[in-house]
Amino acid sequence: MIGMWDEYFRRIDPGIAALFKDLENGAAGQAVMKIYCAMHKTLSRVWEEAYRVLVDGGIACINIGDATRSVNGFFRLFANHAKVIDHCEQVGFTTLPYILWKKPTTKPKYKGKGVFLGSGFLPPNAYVTLDCEFILLFRKGNLRRFPPNDPCRYDSAFSKAQRDLWFSQIWTLVGARQTESQIERRIAAFPIEIVERLIRMFSVKGETVLDPFLGSGTSTKVAMLNDRCSVGYEMEKSLLPLIKKKIGAELLSKYEVSFKERSFC
Ligand SMILES: C[S@@+](CC[C@H](N)C(=O)[O-])C[C@H]1O[C@@H](n2cnc3c(N)ncnc32)[C@H](O)[C@@H]1O
Repeated sequence: MIGMWDEYFRRIDPGIAALFKDLENGAAGQAVMKIYCAMHKTLSRVWEEAYRVLVDGGIACINIGDATRSVNGFFRLFANHAKVIDHCEQVGFTTLPYILWKKPTTKPKYKGKGVFLGSGFLPPNAYVTLDCEFILLFRKGNLRRFPPNDPCRYDSAFSKAQRDLWFSQIWTLVGARQTESQIERRIAAFPIEIVERLIRMFSVKGETVLDPFLGSGTSTKVAMLNDRCSVGYEMEKSLLPLIKKKIGAELLSKYEVSFKERSFC
C-alpha cells in the first residue's frame, strides 16, 4: 500500500489493474480494500515459495512496515504486518514472537502530513506516527535438531550480551540513510546490523540464506561475511552493478559467485 509499488502490482496482476481502473472511475472504500487484499494475495506466492524451499525447522524473517495512505480523500492505516501473518499461516508457517524495528528519525504526523503542527495540539484529529517496522518471524515445521556437539552450531554461537540485545523485542536502529546512496535510500536498503543479527540468530555457519527481494544485495554480503552461503533474487536488473559494488571485489574474488538471468513472471 505504499504508492511506489502500485504500478508494479498493476503490471504483474491484471486483476489488480482492473481494480485500480474501478477506483479511478470513482469506486470508493470497497475497491481500496479489494486492491489491498489482492496485493497481499499476489505477495503470498513468495511466502509459499519460501515455505517450500526452507529446511524443516527453518526460520523466515519478513521485514514489513504498515502504511498510512489517503485514497480518494480518505485516510487510513493498512496493517500490512497483519495480512502477512495471515497469509504465512495459510501457507503453513508457525508465527513466532516478532521484532519491532524502531527507527528514531520519523516525526509525528497531522492528518497524514509530515509534521505535527498547529491544531495538531488539539484533540482529537491527529494520528500516531508509524515509527516502527515489523520483523516477522516464522518457523516451518518442528524445532531443528542437530547432532550433539555439532561443531558448526557451536562455532556459530553468540555472546550473552548479543543474546540479551538481539532477542529483545524492540530494536532501535537507524535506517541505512546517512551513509548510503540515493538508490539505496529509494529501495530502502537494510542497515547491515539488522541482517547480521537475523542471520546469526537463525542460521548456522555453512548454511544457505535466501533473500527473494535482494535489492542492493545487503543480505548476500552479510551472509558471506558471516560464513553462510547465499541465494538472492532481484527483478530489477539495473541493480546488478550496485549489488556487485556492495559485495565488493574482495569477497567476489574470494568466493564462488554467479549472477544468472532468469525470465520473470
Ligand atoms: C525493499 S527492497 C529490498 C532492499 C534490500 N533489503 C537491501 O538491503 O537492499 C525490495 C526489492 O525487491 C525487489 N522485488 C520486488 N518484487 C520482486 C520479485 N517478485 N522478485 C524479485 N525481486 C523483487 C525490488 O525490485 C526491490 O529491489
